[in-house]
Amino acid sequence: MCGIVGYVGQQSALDVVTAGLKRLEYRGYDSAGVAVQADGGLATAKKAGKLVNLEKELADRPLPAGTTGIGHTRWATHGGPTDANAHPHLDNAGRVAVVHNGIIENFAALREELAERGHDLVSETDTEVVAHLLAEEYSACADLAEAMRLVCRRLEGAFTLVAVHADEADVVVGARRNSPLVVGVGDGEAFLASDVAAFIAHTRSAIELGQDQVVELRRDAVTVTGFDGSPADVRSYHVDWDASAAEKDGYASFMLKEIAEQPKAVADTLLGRIDGSGSLVLDEVRIPANVLREVDKVVIVACGTAFHAGLIAKYAIEHWTRIPCEVELASEFRYRDPILDQQTLVVAISQSGETMDTLMALRHAREQGAKVLAICNTNGSTIPRESDAVLYTHAGPEVAVASTKAFLTQLVACYLVALYLGQVRGTQWADEIRAVVRDLSSIGGAVERVLETMEPVRELARSLADKNTVLFLGRHVGYPVALEGALKLKELAYMHAEGFAAGELKHGPIALVEDDLPVVVVVPSPRGRSVLHDKLVSNIQEIRARGARTIVIAEEGDEAVVPYADHLIRVPVTPTLLQPLVATVPLQVFACELATARGNEVDQPRNLAKSVTVE
Ligand code: F6R
Repeated sequence: MCGIVGYVGQQSALDVVTAGLKRLEYRGYDSAGVAVQADGGLATAKKAGKLVNLEKELADRPLPAGTTGIGHTRWATHGGPTDANAHPHLDNAGRVAVVHNGIIENFAALREELAERGHDLVSETDTEVVAHLLAEEYSACADLAEAMRLVCRRLEGAFTLVAVHADEADVVVGARRNSPLVVGVGDGEAFLASDVAAFIAHTRSAIELGQDQVVELRRDAVTVTGFDGSPADVRSYHVDWDASAAEKDGYASFMLKEIAEQPKAVADTLLGRIDGSGSLVLDEVRIPANVLREVDKVVIVACGTAFHAGLIAKYAIEHWTRIPCEVELASEFRYRDPILDQQTLVVAISQSGETMDTLMALRHAREQGAKVLAICNTNGSTIPRESDAVLYTHAGPEVAVASTKAFLTQLVACYLVALYLGQVRGTQWADEIRAVVRDLSSIGGAVERVLETMEPVRELARSLADKNTVLFLGRHVGYPVALEGALKLKELAYMHAEGFAAGELKHGPIALVEDDLPVVVVVPSPRGRSVLHDKLVSNIQEIRARGARTIVIAEEGDEAVVPYADHLIRVPVTPTLLQPLVATVPLQVFACELATARGNEVDQPRNLAKSVTVE
């Protein structure tokens, strides 16, 4: 939530910062602004609405050239999305400019205190107090990094701050508590950003910032300290993807591109993790085998789409390992006093690695003595840093706000964890595990085949553009798939969409069914657990008898559904537990196409931001 960029070097700061903001716009698009050091002062521009409004403003009223600057794209928390509330915020003399991601919880008290000392605060934001406090501290110490350390010690809440001062040429200072901030190191230039995507076109050399650290950027030096001024250890890393991965590559939207990338994302997430004999090799899971053998409960915490991946993981973990598994919305977890101990393995799933609810849940789990394994897509982000171990999904950058390829790779990672636990502990399902590992190795091809047959799904989606409601039904692992299908439709098409366990239909939801209501049904394989399949076929008949228009997702060769499907979407034959990897894809395509037909912008749905760094 909120994207931040800072730059010091030899290029035009405005060009570097605005290009970086473009890459970060997925983090919030309520307003955008920039500040550059120029002519011994600071020149700023800010505008409510998307970045394009700021670009227009800069074209109409160009800023003087400068080589040091900061920028911000906002997801509003305190104060509406107006020009005045847009960042950067300045002190009254206009000598210091600051951008912020997060929430400063004690801002009201600080604001009052500043007002008493004669400061005139002009916005409704929590951020503005920081500009005024920095100005005060700077006037005493004449050192922006030191002023930042002093101010941070007074702030409560979650914050990433980046600031420049007119009197300190060619210096950008950042601070980090909870919200993300990474440093990019170039040749005679340096960058700060919420996400490496902002500077990947200039450098792939990055530095992770830790909790409660302040960084001072100069052209040839990056200095990191704690809030107390003590020197900090830093971890440098090489970003393993390049600028082209963050481009649309000819697709109409990032979402379409990311849906198309799923076969590769799935294959990359498996790469090197299965050896020639079909055994899992997860060296990066640094939790020793003897500790994993002692685990007597798995608890999965996640939000949104990642939570749906967790719901599916529960079926796999319990089936393959016989360890009880709970799945909990991270935002609820710590408030209900969960029962955890050293034998509990908590799995925190997060694409961004920055979701505040998930971070708080994992901190709570570790405080109770549980081991935490993160499943994450973002190298260097906070959630893996604070976990005992991490299994990275290798989806590459996911830019569209609605999660697609990250979800599929989260599923793969969850299966790997479940299978690995089964392997380490030895289970009665050893033969099945070996077979599933074989099937997983070819699952990318199955996803590819689904993608090749999506034209009828797109056509169907377009024909439903004027509907108000779509329901989604599933059983077993098809139930979380139904929830995910409904979530995608809500967030992209702004339609009423609900997912139900099909067995629950007769306990209430069937009252919603009326003539021509589209109902998407995810049908389990007729092989193996055929009783589940038969029950779902009965459910389809029940809703169809009440007028529903049935859209049936069923395995190739499943003829039992044919008489009851108004629209039939075929997916390849897969083991039951892996079916979500193929059954989710048509639902992503369906939601994307329907949203487009309704004139919505799929990459940046209204009111949302990709990385939810506030609770
Ligand atoms: C939905 C979506 C969100 C995220 C959720 C968690 O398409 O993207 O529901 O899944 O905000 O985000 P991460 O995985 O970054 O923790």
